[in-house]
Amino acid sequence: NRTIYTAGRPPWYNCAGQQVEPFVIGICGGSASGKTTVAEKIIESLDVPWVTLLSMDCFYKILNEKQHEQALINEYNFDHPDAFDIELLVDVLTKLKEGRKVEVPVYNFVTHGRETQTKTMYGANVIIFEGILTFHSPEVLKLLDMKIFVDTDPDIRLARRLKRDISQRGRELRGVLKQYLNMVKPSYANYIAPTMAHADIIVPRGGENKVAIHLIVQHVHTQLQLRGFKLRETLANSYKDQPMP
Ligand code: CTP
Repeated sequence: NRTIYTAGRPPWYNCAGQQVEPFVIGICGGSASGKTTVAEKIIESLDVPWVTLLSMDCFYKILNEKQHEQALINEYNFDHPDAFDIELLVDVLTKLKEGRKVEVPVYNFVTHGRETQTKTMYGANVIIFEGILTFHSPEVLKLLDMKIFVDTDPDIRLARRLKRDISQRGRELRGVLKQYLNMVKPSYANYIAPTMAHADIIVPRGGENKVAIHLIVQHVHTQLQLRGFKLRETLANSYKDQPMP
């Protein structure tokens, strides 16, 4: 995981001491479309210190007893917008955008609940926010500087999801299929796919689309430079020309 969390000198100042507002990228797409892979590829290619990755999964609401029972028999709809604590999400994203330190809940897909400990995150130069419904709330949309939709074939998404839910999320085949057919698939059609209209860029096939990743990285570099942020390479060259003290 190449995500870098920061402490110490605020990273949102450029070398001239001017404040640089973080660039916030929103990545949206159906379940198992490869959102995280796209985010990781962008981070790998960005020549920028202090990039942070935030997942919408951290903001799943705490379930009551009845909802928890439903979740255990694959009858709770985790793909509906109401499943997320949007108020907390907006608060966290707003603070990160202001360069402030935040405590982010840690979600456990096996227990369908939040862990007791939280994860501390700090302001960054680039913040990537990914999830199935990142473009659903108008308040969240306002915080995003660039919106990417990952559009991956539904058969591929289902195949990946089956593998992942069974091997990593403690599920069994029948339950995964029941949840997929009754909730994941209809919610994709009703709530996720329509938000594609908000995207600045649609990335077919996800993380393997090198051309799309390259174009996205170029745009982020340009935007940061316009904000007065110097890239690592530029910084290194400017130091190279200076006489040794
Ligand atoms: N989900 C679940 N059980 C929970 C909470 C969420 O099964 N207790 C499922 C929801 O049905 C939702 C999915 O988790 O569809 C959201 O995670 P997803 O977007 O699939 O995970 P990522 O790893 O972020 O996806 P990607 O492969 O695109 O990176």
